[in-house]
Amino acid sequence: MNSLWLSNDNFIKNDSFNSLGENLETEVCIIGAGIFGTTCAYYLSKLGYKVVLVEKDKIGSKATGNTTGKITSQHGLFYNYLNNSYGEKFAKDYLDANEEAITNIKKIIDEEKINCDFSYQNAYIYTTKKENINSIRKEFNTLSNLGYNPELVTKTGLPFEVNLALCFKNQAQFNPIKYLKGLCDCILKRNGSIFTNTTVHKVEKVNEDYIVFTENYQIKASYVIVATHFPFINFPGFYFTKMYQSTSYLIAIDTKKTLSKGMYISEDKPAFSFRTATYQGKELLLIGGGEHRTGEPSSYSDTYGLLEQEAKKYFPNCEILFKWNTRDCISLDKIPYIGYYSSIMPHMYVGTGFKKWGMTLSNVASNIIVDSICKKENKFAYLFNSSRLKPIKNRTEMKNILIQSANSLLLNKLRPANMNFDEIANDSGSIIEINNEKVGIYKDSNGKIYAVKPICTHLGCLLSWNDVDKTWDCPCHGSRFDFDGTNLYDPAFKNLDTFDLE
Ligand code: FES
Repeated sequence: MNSLWLSNDNFIKNDSFNSLGENLETEVCIIGAGIFGTTCAYYLSKLGYKVVLVEKDKIGSKATGNTTGKITSQHGLFYNYLNNSYGEKFAKDYLDANEEAITNIKKIIDEEKINCDFSYQNAYIYTTKKENINSIRKEFNTLSNLGYNPELVTKTGLPFEVNLALCFKNQAQFNPIKYLKGLCDCILKRNGSIFTNTTVHKVEKVNEDYIVFTENYQIKASYVIVATHFPFINFPGFYFTKMYQSTSYLIAIDTKKTLSKGMYISEDKPAFSFRTATYQGKELLLIGGGEHRTGEPSSYSDTYGLLEQEAKKYFPNCEILFKWNTRDCISLDKIPYIGYYSSIMPHMYVGTGFKKWGMTLSNVASNIIVDSICKKENKFAYLFNSSRLKPIKNRTEMKNILIQSANSLLLNKLRPANMNFDEIANDSGSIIEINNEKVGIYKDSNGKIYAVKPICTHLGCLLSWNDVDKTWDCPCHGSRFDFDGTNLYDPAFKNLDTFDLE
Protein backbone atom coordinates (compact mmCIF):
# COMPACT_ATOMS: atom_id res chain seq x y z
CA MET A 1 0.00 0.00 0.00
CA ASN A 2 1.29 3.49 -0.86
CA SER A 3 1.77 6.21 1.71
CA LEU A 4 -0.92 8.83 2.14
CA TRP A 5 1.33 11.40 0.46
CA LEU A 6 2.12 9.29 -2.59
CA SER A 7 -1.47 8.15 -3.04
CA ASN A 8 -2.86 11.57 -2.58
CA ASP A 9 -1.08 13.29 -5.36
CA ASN A 10 -1.04 12.78 -9.11
CA PHE A 11 2.36 14.44 -9.27
CA ILE A 12 4.14 11.14 -8.69
CA LYS A 13 1.72 8.91 -10.58
CA ASN A 14 1.67 11.03 -13.72
CA ASP A 15 5.31 11.90 -13.51
CA SER A 16 6.04 14.04 -16.52
CA PHE A 17 9.81 14.13 -16.23
CA ASN A 18 12.03 12.28 -18.68
CA SER A 19 15.10 10.20 -18.03
CA LEU A 20 18.42 11.70 -19.12
CA GLY A 21 18.81 11.33 -22.88
CA GLU A 22 22.04 13.17 -23.69
CA ASN A 23 25.38 14.26 -22.25
CA LEU A 24 25.14 17.55 -20.34
CA GLU A 25 27.29 20.23 -18.77
CA THR A 26 26.11 22.20 -15.78
CA GLU A 27 27.34 24.18 -12.80
CA VAL A 28 25.74 21.94 -10.15
CA CYS A 29 24.58 18.34 -10.51
CA ILE A 30 22.40 17.09 -7.66
CA ILE A 31 21.95 13.32 -7.31
CA GLY A 32 18.67 12.43 -5.60
CA ALA A 33 15.34 14.28 -5.79
CA GLY A 34 14.00 13.86 -2.29
CA ILE A 35 13.39 16.91 -0.18
CA PHE A 36 17.09 17.57 0.44
CA GLY A 37 18.23 17.44 -3.18
CA THR A 38 15.19 19.33 -4.40
CA THR A 39 15.63 22.07 -1.80
CA CYS A 40 19.29 22.48 -2.84
CA ALA A 41 18.19 22.73 -6.47
CA TYR A 42 15.51 25.27 -5.51
CA TYR A 43 17.88 27.59 -3.64
CA LEU A 44 20.65 27.34 -6.23
CA SER A 45 18.36 27.94 -9.21
CA LYS A 46 16.93 30.94 -7.38
CA LEU A 47 20.47 32.29 -7.03
CA GLY A 48 20.98 31.91 -10.79
CA TYR A 49 23.03 28.70 -10.82
CA LYS A 50 22.52 26.24 -13.64
CA VAL A 51 21.34 23.04 -11.93
CA VAL A 52 20.63 19.50 -13.06
CA LEU A 53 18.70 17.28 -10.65
CA VAL A 54 18.78 13.53 -11.35
CA GLU A 55 16.65 10.92 -9.60
CA LYS A 56 16.86 7.13 -9.83
CA ASP A 57 13.11 6.64 -9.43
CA LYS A 58 10.40 9.27 -9.17
CA ILE A 59 10.48 12.58 -7.35
CA GLY A 60 10.11 12.06 -3.61
CA SER A 61 9.16 8.43 -3.97
CA LYS A 62 11.42 7.15 -1.19
CA ALA A 63 12.14 8.75 2.21
CA THR A 64 10.30 12.03 1.51
CA GLY A 65 7.14 10.35 0.25
CA ASN A 66 7.02 8.03 3.24
CA THR A 67 7.73 10.41 6.10
CA THR A 68 5.36 11.69 8.79
CA GLY A 69 5.76 15.21 7.35
CA LYS A 70 6.62 16.92 10.62
CA ILE A 71 8.74 20.08 10.60
CA THR A 72 10.17 20.50 14.05
CA SER A 73 13.19 21.21 16.21
CA GLN A 74 11.89 18.62 18.68
CA HIS A 75 13.82 15.46 17.89
CA GLY A 76 12.81 13.28 20.82
CA LEU A 77 14.67 13.97 24.05
CA PHE A 78 17.76 15.15 22.20
CA TYR A 79 19.00 18.40 23.74
CA ASN A 80 20.03 16.89 27.04
CA TYR A 81 22.14 14.40 25.06
CA LEU A 82 23.68 17.20 22.95
CA ASN A 83 24.33 19.38 25.96
CA ASN A 84 26.01 16.56 27.89
CA SER A 85 28.00 15.29 24.92
CA TYR A 86 29.04 18.48 23.13
CA GLY A 87 28.28 21.40 25.44
CA GLU A 88 25.80 24.21 25.72
CA LYS A 89 26.78 26.19 22.62
CA PHE A 90 26.52 23.12 20.42
CA ALA A 91 23.08 22.22 21.78
CA LYS A 92 21.83 25.80 21.44
CA ASP A 93 23.11 26.13 17.87
CA TYR A 94 21.53 22.80 16.93
CA LEU A 95 18.22 24.03 18.26
CA ASP A 96 18.55 27.40 16.50
CA ALA A 97 19.46 25.72 13.19
CA ASN A 98 16.26 23.66 13.31
CA GLU A 99 14.08 26.55 14.44
CA GLU A 100 15.49 28.63 11.60
CA ALA A 101 14.64 25.81 9.18
CA ILE A 102 10.95 26.00 10.19
CA THR A 103 11.01 29.72 9.37
CA ASN A 104 12.84 29.09 6.07
CA ILE A 105 10.33 26.47 4.92
CA LYS A 106 7.39 28.75 5.74
CA LYS A 107 9.14 31.57 3.84
CA ILE A 108 9.52 29.40 0.73
CA ILE A 109 5.87 28.32 0.95
CA ASP A 110 4.69 31.94 1.26
CA GLU A 111 6.99 33.39 -1.38
CA GLU A 112 6.30 30.67 -3.93
CA LYS A 113 2.65 30.26 -2.97
CA ILE A 114 2.98 26.50 -2.50
CA ASN A 115 -0.24 24.85 -1.46
CA CYS A 116 1.00 21.99 0.73
CA ASP A 117 -1.35 21.88 3.73
CA PHE A 118 1.23 23.63 5.93
CA SER A 119 0.00 24.41 9.42
CA TYR A 120 1.67 25.46 12.64
CA GLN A 121 1.23 22.90 15.39
CA ASN A 122 2.44 22.32 18.91
CA ALA A 123 4.82 19.34 19.15
CA TYR A 124 4.76 17.17 22.26
CA ILE A 125 7.01 14.47 23.70
CA TYR A 126 4.91 12.59 26.20
CA THR A 127 5.09 9.70 28.59
CA THR A 128 2.42 7.50 30.10
CA LYS A 129 4.96 5.85 32.39
CA LYS A 130 6.16 7.18 35.72
CA GLU A 131 9.75 6.06 35.08
CA ASN A 132 10.11 8.45 32.12
CA ILE A 133 8.91 11.58 33.89
CA ASN A 134 12.38 12.40 35.06
CA SER A 135 13.89 12.29 31.58
CA ILE A 136 11.27 14.72 30.33
CA ARG A 137 11.94 17.06 33.24
CA LYS A 138 15.68 16.94 32.53
CA GLU A 139 15.07 17.83 28.88
CA PHE A 140 12.87 20.71 30.00
CA ASN A 141 15.62 22.00 32.33
CA THR A 142 18.26 21.75 29.61
CA LEU A 143 16.07 23.63 27.13
CA SER A 144 15.27 26.31 29.70
CA ASN A 145 19.01 26.78 30.33
CA LEU A 146 19.52 27.17 26.60
CA GLY A 147 17.03 30.06 26.66
CA TYR A 148 14.22 28.14 24.96
CA ASN A 149 10.84 28.11 26.61
CA PRO A 150 9.00 24.85 26.15
CA GLU A 151 6.08 24.02 28.42
CA LEU A 152 5.51 21.07 30.72
CA VAL A 153 1.88 19.97 30.51
CA THR A 154 -0.30 17.09 31.61
CA LYS A 155 -3.24 17.85 29.30
CA THR A 156 -2.82 17.14 25.59
CA GLY A 157 -5.09 16.47 22.64
CA LEU A 158 -4.32 12.74 22.75
CA PRO A 159 -7.23 10.33 23.33
CA PHE A 160 -5.60 9.04 26.54
CA GLU A 161 -4.07 10.41 29.72
CA VAL A 162 -0.37 11.19 29.89
CA ASN A 163 1.83 11.53 32.95
CA LEU A 164 3.80 14.43 31.52
CA ALA A 165 4.46 16.06 28.14
CA LEU A 166 6.99 18.59 26.90
CA CYS A 167 5.45 21.03 24.44
CA PHE A 168 7.33 22.97 21.73
CA LYS A 169 5.15 25.75 20.31
CA ASN A 170 5.04 26.91 16.67
CA GLN A 171 6.28 23.73 15.08
CA ALA A 172 4.65 22.64 11.83
CA GLN A 173 3.36 19.88 9.57
CA PHE A 174 2.71 19.70 5.83
CA ASN A 175 2.18 17.40 2.89
CA PRO A 176 5.78 16.74 1.80
CA ILE A 177 4.92 15.69 -1.75
CA LYS A 178 2.84 18.78 -2.43
CA TYR A 179 5.76 20.84 -1.11
CA LEU A 180 8.16 18.99 -3.40
CA LYS A 181 5.89 19.63 -6.35
CA GLY A 182 5.99 23.34 -5.57
CA LEU A 183 9.80 23.30 -5.39
CA CYS A 184 10.07 21.41 -8.70
CA ASP A 185 7.81 23.96 -10.43
CA CYS A 186 10.12 26.74 -9.18
CA ILE A 187 13.26 24.91 -10.35
CA LEU A 188 11.83 24.41 -13.85
CA LYS A 189 10.62 28.02 -13.97
CA ARG A 190 14.21 29.11 -13.30
CA ASN A 191 15.60 26.94 -16.08
CA GLY A 192 16.78 24.08 -13.92
CA SER A 193 16.62 20.56 -15.39
CA ILE A 194 15.09 17.53 -13.67
CA PHE A 195 15.53 13.93 -14.84
CA THR A 196 13.86 10.91 -13.25
CA ASN A 197 14.42 7.16 -13.76
CA THR A 198 18.10 7.98 -14.16
CA THR A 199 20.54 5.98 -12.04
CA VAL A 200 23.97 7.38 -11.28
CA HIS A 201 26.64 4.66 -11.08
CA LYS A 202 29.73 6.64 -10.27
CA VAL A 203 31.24 10.09 -9.99
CA GLU A 204 34.80 10.83 -11.08
CA LYS A 205 36.91 13.90 -10.56
CA VAL A 206 38.54 15.10 -13.79
CA ASN A 207 40.77 18.14 -13.35
CA GLU A 208 38.63 20.80 -11.69
CA ASP A 209 35.29 19.21 -12.60
CA TYR A 210 33.30 16.10 -11.83
CA ILE A 211 31.84 13.64 -14.30
CA VAL A 212 28.60 12.02 -13.14
CA PHE A 213 28.03 8.70 -14.95
CA THR A 214 24.51 7.41 -15.53
CA GLU A 215 23.60 4.25 -17.48
CA ASN A 216 24.16 5.79 -20.90
CA TYR A 217 25.16 9.41 -20.47
CA GLN A 218 27.41 11.72 -18.51
CA ILE A 219 26.94 15.04 -16.77
CA LYS A 220 29.95 17.32 -16.37
CA ALA A 221 29.58 19.61 -13.35
CA SER A 222 31.65 22.03 -11.29
CA TYR A 223 29.81 20.97 -8.14
CA VAL A 224 28.10 17.72 -7.18
CA ILE A 225 25.68 17.19 -4.30
CA VAL A 226 25.02 13.59 -3.27
CA ALA A 227 21.47 13.68 -1.91
CA THR A 228 20.68 9.97 -2.12
CA HIS A 229 19.46 9.31 1.43
CA PHE A 230 22.30 6.82 2.09
CA PRO A 231 25.45 7.88 0.18
CA PHE A 232 26.12 5.31 -2.55
CA ILE A 233 29.82 6.07 -3.12
CA ASN A 234 31.75 3.93 -0.65
CA PHE A 235 35.29 5.29 -0.99
CA PRO A 236 36.19 7.90 0.05
CA GLY A 237 33.59 8.95 2.58
CA PHE A 238 33.16 5.53 4.23
CA TYR A 239 29.59 6.38 5.26
CA PHE A 240 28.76 2.67 5.38
CA THR A 241 30.99 2.39 8.45
CA LYS A 242 29.27 5.17 10.34
CA MET A 243 25.54 4.87 9.69
CA TYR A 244 22.78 2.30 9.78
CA GLN A 245 19.14 2.40 8.70
CA SER A 246 16.07 2.04 10.80
CA THR A 247 12.59 1.11 9.54
CA SER A 248 9.39 2.43 11.06
CA TYR A 249 5.73 2.09 10.10
CA LEU A 250 2.74 4.37 9.68
CA ILE A 251 -0.98 3.98 9.26
CA ALA A 252 -3.52 6.67 8.39
CA ILE A 253 -6.98 6.14 9.83
CA ASP A 254 -10.38 7.71 9.52
CA THR A 255 -11.43 7.84 13.19
CA LYS A 256 -14.99 9.03 12.30
CA LYS A 257 -14.50 11.58 15.07
CA THR A 258 -13.32 15.16 15.39
CA LEU A 259 -9.63 15.17 16.23
CA SER A 260 -7.58 17.49 18.40
CA LYS A 261 -4.59 19.16 16.81
CA GLY A 262 -0.94 18.66 17.64
CA MET A 263 2.02 16.41 16.79
CA TYR A 264 3.01 13.82 19.36
CA ILE A 265 5.81 11.37 20.00
CA SER A 266 6.15 9.12 23.03
CA GLU A 267 9.23 8.53 25.09
CA ASP A 268 7.89 5.10 26.10
CA LYS A 269 8.50 1.66 24.66
CA PRO A 270 6.93 0.75 22.34
CA ALA A 271 7.06 4.30 20.99
CA PHE A 272 4.23 5.84 18.98
CA SER A 273 3.81 9.08 17.08
CA PHE A 274 0.61 10.88 16.10
CA ARG A 275 -0.40 13.74 13.83
CA THR A 276 -3.42 14.66 11.74
CA ALA A 277 -3.54 15.16 7.97
CA THR A 278 -6.18 16.08 5.46
CA TYR A 279 -7.23 13.70 2.72
CA GLN A 280 -10.06 14.38 0.30
CA GLY A 281 -11.64 16.84 2.73
CA LYS A 282 -11.42 14.45 5.70
CA GLU A 283 -9.14 14.74 8.69
CA LEU A 284 -7.16 11.55 9.18
CA LEU A 285 -5.01 10.47 12.11
CA LEU A 286 -1.51 9.18 11.36
CA ILE A 287 -0.09 6.72 13.87
CA GLY A 288 3.58 5.75 13.64
CA GLY A 289 5.78 3.21 15.43
CA GLY A 290 7.03 -0.39 15.23
CA GLU A 291 10.61 0.74 14.67
CA HIS A 292 13.40 -1.79 14.15
CA ARG A 293 16.78 -1.84 12.53
CA THR A 294 16.40 -2.41 8.78
CA GLY A 295 17.23 -6.00 7.87
CA GLU A 296 16.36 -7.39 11.28
CA PRO A 297 13.46 -9.83 11.26
CA SER A 298 10.10 -8.30 12.06
CA SER A 299 6.55 -9.56 12.02
CA TYR A 300 3.23 -8.04 11.07
CA SER A 301 2.11 -8.09 14.69
CA ASP A 302 5.18 -6.08 15.78
CA THR A 303 4.76 -3.48 13.05
CA TYR A 304 1.46 -2.68 11.35
CA GLY A 305 -0.36 -4.97 13.77
CA LEU A 306 0.91 -2.94 16.71
CA LEU A 307 -0.32 0.30 15.12
CA GLU A 308 -3.70 -1.19 14.23
CA GLN A 309 -4.10 -2.38 17.80
CA GLU A 310 -3.28 1.11 19.09
CA ALA A 311 -5.78 2.65 16.68
CA LYS A 312 -8.59 0.25 17.63
CA LYS A 313 -7.92 0.80 21.34
CA TYR A 314 -9.02 4.44 21.10
CA PHE A 315 -11.13 4.41 17.92
CA PRO A 316 -12.83 0.98 17.69
CA ASN A 317 -14.80 1.99 14.59
CA CYS A 318 -11.89 3.49 12.72
CA GLU A 319 -11.12 2.65 9.12
CA ILE A 320 -7.51 2.10 8.09
CA LEU A 321 -6.99 3.88 4.78
CA PHE A 322 -3.20 3.80 4.31
CA LYS A 323 -0.26 1.76 5.57
CA TRP A 324 3.36 2.42 4.73
CA ASN A 325 6.88 2.33 6.11
CA THR A 326 9.98 4.41 5.88
CA ARG A 327 13.71 4.11 6.44
CA ASP A 328 15.88 6.59 8.26
CA CYS A 329 19.67 6.87 8.21
CA ILE A 330 21.13 7.17 11.67
CA SER A 331 24.73 8.16 12.29
CA LEU A 332 26.64 6.70 15.20
CA ASP A 333 26.73 9.97 17.11
CA LYS A 334 23.12 10.78 16.04
CA ILE A 335 24.24 13.94 14.24
CA PRO A 336 23.81 14.29 10.46
CA TYR A 337 26.74 14.50 8.06
CA ILE A 338 26.50 17.73 6.08
CA GLY A 339 29.30 19.29 4.03
CA TYR A 340 32.08 17.97 1.81
CA TYR A 341 31.62 14.33 0.83
CA SER A 342 35.21 13.83 1.87
CA SER A 343 38.01 16.21 2.74
CA ILE A 344 39.79 15.06 -0.42
CA MET A 345 36.80 15.88 -2.67
CA PRO A 346 36.34 19.64 -2.76
CA HIS A 347 33.12 20.81 -4.42
CA MET A 348 31.41 17.48 -3.87
CA TYR A 349 28.89 17.59 -1.04
CA VAL A 350 26.74 15.28 1.04
CA GLY A 351 23.79 15.57 3.43
CA THR A 352 22.69 12.41 5.21
CA GLY A 353 21.93 10.85 8.59
CA PHE A 354 18.91 13.07 9.25
CA LYS A 355 17.45 10.43 11.60
CA LYS A 356 13.67 10.84 11.64
CA TRP A 357 13.78 14.57 11.13
CA GLY A 358 14.65 14.94 7.47
CA MET A 359 11.91 17.44 6.66
CA THR A 360 13.58 19.99 8.94
CA LEU A 361 17.24 18.96 8.73
CA SER A 362 17.14 18.86 4.92
CA ASN A 363 16.53 22.60 4.97
CA VAL A 364 19.43 23.11 7.39
CA ALA A 365 21.63 20.97 5.11
CA SER A 366 20.57 22.77 1.94
CA ASN A 367 21.45 26.15 3.40
CA ILE A 368 24.86 24.96 4.61
CA ILE A 369 25.76 23.51 1.22
CA VAL A 370 24.38 26.39 -0.82
CA ASP A 371 26.33 28.82 1.39
CA SER A 372 29.50 26.77 0.85
CA ILE A 373 29.02 26.83 -2.94
CA CYS A 374 28.44 30.60 -2.71
CA LYS A 375 31.56 30.89 -0.50
CA LYS A 376 29.47 32.31 2.34
CA GLU A 377 30.04 31.44 5.96
CA ASN A 378 27.28 29.44 7.64
CA LYS A 379 27.22 29.62 11.43
CA PHE A 380 25.69 26.14 11.76
CA ALA A 381 28.06 24.29 9.41
CA TYR A 382 30.44 23.26 12.19
CA LEU A 383 27.71 21.24 13.94
CA PHE A 384 27.45 18.73 11.11
CA ASN A 385 31.01 18.58 9.77
CA SER A 386 30.95 15.54 7.50
CA SER A 387 34.68 14.89 7.91
CA ARG A 388 34.56 14.91 11.70
CA LEU A 389 37.00 12.62 13.36
CA LYS A 390 36.02 13.26 16.93
CA PRO A 391 35.70 10.12 18.98
CA ILE A 392 32.42 8.34 18.45
CA LYS A 393 30.54 8.78 21.70
CA ASN A 394 28.07 6.07 20.97
CA ARG A 395 30.40 3.10 21.34
CA THR A 396 27.61 0.56 21.81
CA GLU A 397 26.06 1.53 18.52
CA MET A 398 29.43 1.48 16.77
CA LYS A 399 30.13 -2.01 18.12
CA ASN A 400 26.69 -3.17 16.97
CA ILE A 401 27.16 -1.84 13.46
CA LEU A 402 30.55 -3.52 13.08
CA ILE A 403 29.40 -6.83 14.57
CA GLN A 404 26.28 -6.82 12.41
CA SER A 405 28.29 -6.25 9.22
CA ALA A 406 30.96 -8.82 10.10
CA ASN A 407 28.34 -11.42 11.02
CA SER A 408 26.34 -10.88 7.90
CA LEU A 409 29.40 -11.21 5.69
CA LEU A 410 30.41 -14.41 7.45
CA LEU A 411 26.88 -15.77 7.26
CA ASN A 412 27.21 -15.76 3.48
CA LYS A 413 29.43 -18.74 3.84
CA LEU A 414 28.56 -20.29 7.17
CA ARG A 415 24.87 -20.02 7.82
CA PRO A 416 22.91 -23.09 6.84
CA ALA A 417 19.82 -22.50 4.72
CA ASN A 418 16.69 -21.55 6.65
CA MET A 419 14.41 -24.24 5.25
CA ASN A 420 13.73 -26.59 2.34
CA PHE A 421 12.10 -25.51 -0.87
CA ASP A 422 8.87 -27.40 -0.15
CA GLU A 423 8.52 -25.81 3.29
CA ILE A 424 8.19 -22.31 1.82
CA ALA A 425 4.52 -21.35 1.85
CA ASN A 426 2.87 -19.30 -0.89
CA ASP A 427 3.30 -15.53 -0.50
CA SER A 428 6.41 -16.12 1.55
CA GLY A 429 10.16 -16.33 1.09
CA SER A 430 13.29 -17.90 2.53
CA ILE A 431 16.88 -18.76 1.74
CA ILE A 432 17.54 -22.34 0.65
CA GLU A 433 20.59 -24.15 -0.66
CA ILE A 434 20.82 -25.58 -4.16
CA ASN A 435 24.08 -27.31 -5.17
CA ASN A 436 25.84 -25.71 -2.17
CA GLU A 437 24.79 -22.26 -3.29
CA LYS A 438 22.41 -20.01 -1.35
CA VAL A 439 19.30 -19.06 -3.26
CA GLY A 440 16.57 -16.65 -2.12
CA ILE A 441 13.14 -18.01 -3.00
CA TYR A 442 9.86 -16.16 -2.99
CA LYS A 443 6.62 -17.97 -3.92
CA ASP A 444 3.82 -15.56 -4.79
CA SER A 445 0.22 -16.18 -3.76
CA ASN A 446 -0.29 -18.39 -6.85
CA GLY A 447 2.87 -20.36 -6.21
CA LYS A 448 4.92 -18.65 -8.92
CA ILE A 449 8.61 -18.83 -7.97
CA TYR A 450 11.10 -15.96 -7.96
CA ALA A 451 14.71 -17.00 -7.25
CA VAL A 452 17.48 -14.49 -6.50
CA LYS A 453 21.07 -14.57 -5.32
CA PRO A 454 20.54 -13.25 -1.76
CA ILE A 455 23.81 -11.35 -1.59
CA CYS A 456 23.62 -7.57 -1.31
CA THR A 457 25.02 -5.76 -4.35
CA HIS A 458 26.40 -3.02 -2.11
CA LEU A 459 29.16 -4.81 -0.19
CA GLY A 460 28.13 -8.45 -0.22
CA CYS A 461 26.22 -9.06 3.01
CA LEU A 462 23.70 -11.89 3.21
CA LEU A 463 20.15 -10.56 2.83
CA SER A 464 17.22 -11.52 4.98
CA TRP A 465 13.61 -12.08 3.93
CA ASN A 466 11.14 -9.43 5.08
CA ASP A 467 7.77 -11.15 5.22
CA VAL A 468 5.89 -7.93 6.06
CA ASP A 469 6.86 -6.11 2.85
CA LYS A 470 7.90 -9.13 0.72
CA THR A 471 11.38 -7.72 0.18
CA TRP A 472 14.99 -8.82 0.62
CA ASP A 473 16.61 -6.53 3.20
CA CYS A 474 20.25 -6.03 4.06
CA PRO A 475 21.11 -6.01 7.77
CA CYS A 476 24.45 -4.28 7.14
CA HIS A 477 23.53 -0.84 5.80
CA GLY A 478 19.85 -1.17 4.99
CA SER A 479 19.64 -1.66 1.21
CA ARG A 480 16.41 -3.29 0.08
CA PHE A 481 15.37 -5.31 -2.95
CA ASP A 482 11.95 -6.31 -4.17
CA PHE A 483 10.97 -10.02 -4.11
CA ASP A 484 12.16 -10.34 -7.73
CA GLY A 485 15.56 -8.76 -6.99
CA THR A 486 14.82 -5.22 -8.20
CA ASN A 487 16.81 -2.73 -6.16
CA LEU A 488 14.52 -0.47 -4.12
CA TYR A 489 16.71 1.40 -1.65
CA ASP A 490 20.30 2.55 -1.48
CA PRO A 491 23.20 2.39 -0.76
CA ALA A 492 23.02 -0.54 -3.26
CA PHE A 493 21.92 0.60 -6.69
CA LYS A 494 22.22 -2.64 -8.70
CA ASN A 495 19.55 -5.36 -8.87
CA LEU A 496 20.20 -8.84 -7.47
CA ASP A 497 21.26 -11.64 -9.81
CA THR A 498 18.36 -13.98 -10.51
CA PHE A 499 18.11 -17.72 -11.19
CA ASP A 500 15.84 -19.48 -13.59
CA LEU A 501 14.69 -22.59 -11.74
CA GLU A 502 12.36 -23.89 -14.43
FE1 FES B 1 25.81 -2.53 2.52
FE2 FES B 1 24.05 -4.42 1.96
S1 FES B 1 23.68 -2.35 2.31
S2 FES B 1 26.19 -4.63 2.17
